[in-house]
Amino acid sequence: MPRALITGITGQDGMYLAEFLAGKGYEVFGLIRGQNNPRARLVADVIPSIRLLSGDLRDLPSLVGALETARPDEVYNLGAISFVGMSWRQAELTSEITGLGVLRMLEALRIHTQGDLSKVRFYQASSSEMFGKVREVPQNEDTPFHPRSPYGIAKAFGHYITVNYRESYGAYACSGILFNHESPRRGPEFVTRKVTRGAARIALGQQDTLLLGNIDACRDWGFAGDYVEAMWLMLQQDEPDDYVIATGETHTVRDLLDIAFHRAGVGDWEPHVRQDSRLLRPAEVDTLAGDSSRARERLGWKPRGNFRDLIEMMVDADLADLTRADPASDPTDREDPRWA
Ligand code: GDD
Repeated sequence: MPRALITGITGQDGMYLAEFLAGKGYEVFGLIRGQNNPRARLVADVIPSIRLLSGDLRDLPSLVGALETARPDEVYNLGAISFVGMSWRQAELTSEITGLGVLRMLEALRIHTQGDLSKVRFYQASSSEMFGKVREVPQNEDTPFHPRSPYGIAKAFGHYITVNYRESYGAYACSGILFNHESPRRGPEFVTRKVTRGAARIALGQQDTLLLGNIDACRDWGFAGDYVEAMWLMLQQDEPDDYVIATGETHTVRDLLDIAFHRAGVGDWEPHVRQDSRLLRPAEVDTLAGDSSRARERLGWKPRGNFRDLIEMMVDADLADLTRADPASDPTDREDPRWA
């Protein structure tokens, strides 16, 4: 039975990946941060076979300990502070976890494998946010980076240190440069989920307006369930490499609003949406579009659904959740003035 260790198990991708690997017969271990992490219960409910280990990307001994217990064949480093907007407010912490955390995990692997880093396969969750102020359209593995946020800078460090451990120590290490990927499990602070949940609330009369930042931003949005499969495929190749994972289709936040409000049955979104300058970022990534030809050719990977299907699925899930007796709460709901 192959064994995998996932950091960031409580996030959207961690849960989809754990389900995917468990379905393939893996024994799956997930690293959980903090003393009383409320999402540990959710993970255990969603993936009953999961084995949870306590550890933190800021703490090297805890990572070595997790590797000793899990004895993984594959390590997926998905743990990060992943909300770009927050990375300006907590730039040091973002650098510490999202950036240096990658180095710590690679060092833990070096200790665990006694220097033979080819023995355990390593996946690093890199990000299209590294392209930032894009140098070419669409972006591929050779496009230079120009990150625009402390988050993007930390991810660029994580990417390069992964490549460096491959080149310096012969690590079987892959960096997956994933473009935005969404699902009903997406955190409510990200724009797709904020809009699908907002549209559902407005349709149900639970909310009147939705505050947004830059609605002209363009992103290449895919479905998270498809993207975790690409992570696994990268680690099944003879040689490690870096891969862009994207749909190649770009949409604006306005397109997202059109589809979500229409699906929720509200119709016109304009009377319900207000732009709030507090939600604009100090430096914005205006547009992203990925060229995933390498992954399509070598991994045989391609996205399954399209943007409209994805957003409609998310709206339907939010409508269903909000009409249940005990809807999931939104701790990061920006409509709550305490989060302004
Ligand atoms: N979150 C948010 N909230 N974004 C808004 C809002 C708003 O109210 N209004 C407009 N936007 C715009 C942002 O300015 C950005 O241009 C775009 O919507 C997408 O924002 P997010 O959904 O927060 O995602 P992101 O693109 O910044 O980052 C996501 O994708 C990266 C891959 O490119 C995250 O998942 C990162 O962790 C990931 O690496």
